[in-house]
Amino acid sequence: MLTLSIVDAKKAGSDAQLYAYVMQESESMSSTIKKIEKKHAVILQPIVKQQQFKGRVGDVLVLPYDVEGVVQYISLIGLGSVGNGINGKIDIETYRRAIGRMIRIAESRKIDSISFELPSAALCNVSLNYLFEQTVIAAHMAAYKYDRFLTNSESKVRDIAVEIVVPTAHKLSLKNALRRAEIIARAVNQAREWVDAPPELLTPPELAREARVIAKKYDVKITVFDEKKIKQMGMGGLEAVSRGSDLDCQLVIMEYSCGKKRAPTLGLVGKGITFDSGGLSIKPAQSMETMKEDMSGAAAVIAAMQAIAQLKPNVNVVVAAALSENLPSGKATKPGDIVTFYNGKTAEVRNTDAEGRLVLADALAYVVEQYKLDALVDIATLTGACAYAIGPFFTGLMSQHDALSHTVQDSAARSGDRVWPLPLNDDYKVAIKSTIADICNIGNKRYNAGAITAGFFLQNFVGNVPWVHLDIAGTAFDVPDISYYRPGATGVGVRLLIDMACNWKEK
Ligand code: BES
Ligand code: MN
Ligand code: ZN
Repeated sequence: MLTLSIVDAKKAGSDAQLYAYVMQESESMSSTIKKIEKKHAVILQPIVKQQQFKGRVGDVLVLPYDVEGVVQYISLIGLGSVGNGINGKIDIETYRRAIGRMIRIAESRKIDSISFELPSAALCNVSLNYLFEQTVIAAHMAAYKYDRFLTNSESKVRDIAVEIVVPTAHKLSLKNALRRAEIIARAVNQAREWVDAPPELLTPPELAREARVIAKKYDVKITVFDEKKIKQMGMGGLEAVSRGSDLDCQLVIMEYSCGKKRAPTLGLVGKGITFDSGGLSIKPAQSMETMKEDMSGAAAVIAAMQAIAQLKPNVNVVVAAALSENLPSGKATKPGDIVTFYNGKTAEVRNTDAEGRLVLADALAYVVEQYKLDALVDIATLTGACAYAIGPFFTGLMSQHDALSHTVQDSAARSGDRVWPLPLNDDYKVAIKSTIADICNIGNKRYNAGAITAGFFLQNFVGNVPWVHLDIAGTAFDVPDISYYRPGATGVGVRLLIDMACNWKEK
């Protein structure tokens, strides 16, 4: 666990084990060093003179020194040159990763107290509030570790106290920023915990129970439909996917109301396959290894709701999480079966491993029919094709609604959950034609573009509501090289969805 506190620059304490500074690349590091605390500058001067640290992205200097027989550390973490960033500034993502590195430095040396000097916000050309929030969120994300089943205490995550040294005049306003940032960080790490949990433990009924706990604690309305009710309501997609499982599927609906008359309403829909074996179209063993991750979309929307209920933005938010296992059995749905969804449309199931779109179809159709939505975003580990197309660093964004697409892209850029658009162009639509049902659950091979054809499948269930589809198959789990992640869940989407709710402007 990380404990963060704000310290006034004038009263900065002096008993931390690690003093950390982020530094931009510069020709004369000597003059840059002069700006930091004198007793540290003196120690660092000869080292930077010999060009041992240049401040490039990834450059790290960790210097142990003796203070009356006790070892303390000074660390410099490089941000690169301003030329590398946007508009001649340091990219905020580079800064987040520097914060991640700071936490890793402390972990590898068993350091349990850090003093970090917040740099000037001008460095990234952002507001001080925002820079501070991003510092807090990145630090908490870096500290997260799923260590519940590690029995060796050496492997468990250690407690670290971090004091963030801030300009004197801003201490009070940043107190509130700290509260908000910690609500966001907690939500992200909560989503990661659900995703990282073994699929035996985190089942559809269990995740629904977790959602109920959150709803009660933060006073949001919740409705959970069980399998019997789901069948009664004509949600043939969820029913079909769940048929091979011994457990009930669940549709979780959570509603946050801001209390303002005529406030806009956002719909957030998440894919919640707590384990995806592929069903009868069974996956090869390697592809199945991490398929507990297949509920990352549901985790993201429920966790986002947890934060939204505390941050209380001026929009209404409806969350729908479609929860099921996808398993083979004598009762399982077969390739060739036809399902009828909540909105009356039918689909031929040619491949039971394309199950995400089946459960999302009912969830989307439900929220579109039951609420007057101003915008709809779905988030799903939907296709391996998306991961192949753009890899682990960007979530695939698909939409035909330019305004909403840009709103989501703005939230992505601000929050750090980066997205990249794929063309949801009508040319691809024919790929999911079927001769015996309205649509087919896999795209015709000749068109390739599996991420996009999956998007078009979902389009049949969103009516006329402005809609964005986010495919997180590549970004939800085991993302490499980003210092504030670890192997396992990333919590992708949580920061983005919270940002979207909190910054929603009437169009
Ligand atoms: N859950 C998978 C997609 C996935 C793959 C998520 C890798 C995370 C990492 C999804 O249900 C699936 O199996 N999709 C199939 C679709 C195909 C059968 C049309 C796929 O991508 O192979
Ligand atoms: Mn699948
Ligand atoms: Zn799946």
